[in-house]
Amino acid sequence: MELGYDDYLRRHREVVYSLYRANMRNRMIAAYADGEIVGVVWVGMRVDTVHFVGVGYIYDIEVIRDLRGKGIGSKLLQMAEETCREWGVKEVMLAVEANNFEAIKWYERMGYAPKRYLMSKRLRAFE
Ligand SMILES: CC(C)(COP(=O)(O)OP(=O)(O)OC[C@H]1O[C@@H](n2cnc3c(N)ncnc32)[C@H](O)[C@@H]1OP(=O)(O)O)[C@@H](O)C(=O)NCCC(=O)NCCS
Repeated sequence: MELGYDDYLRRHREVVYSLYRANMRNRMIAAYADGEIVGVVWVGMRVDTVHFVGVGYIYDIEVIRDLRGKGIGSKLLQMAEETCREWGVKEVMLAVEANNFEAIKWYERMGYAPKRYLMSKRLRAFE
């Protein structure tokens, strides 16, 4: 979507707040280097809309570009999965853009596999 940066930030904040409130639980985990945040993962617990059981859901995982490939992302993901075990859920899910091939390869390496198709149809052009 072609939003200006301020609009993007505002929309991002609104979406994060509403998802955060809708979840049964949330945990945000940060990785630090020299006192600065260099990576984050946000994991929530929500109800799966197909089976109606609680599932862990990775909403966001990111490591700053300069520090990628050093094991930070996999450690964050592992901690998010441990959080899900602690919550007693049996499954952890996430959505990734179908054209984010690098992230898809990485998730597959971390043991994730496609389970459902999330389908989309454009009703009108994005403004
Ligand atoms: C995806 C992301 C979080 C991974 O974090 P990272 O810190 O770079 O990952 P790690 O260093 O922990 O990777 C661990 C392993 O995966 C491998 N790996 C790294 N990138 C890979 C890739 N694109 N494809 C396959 N394997 C990859 C590493 O070589 C490493 O393997 P090893 O343990 O055998 O040495 C990071 O690349 C990122 O922030 N990407 C941009 C944001 C993004 O796309 N997030 C997901 C969107 S939903």
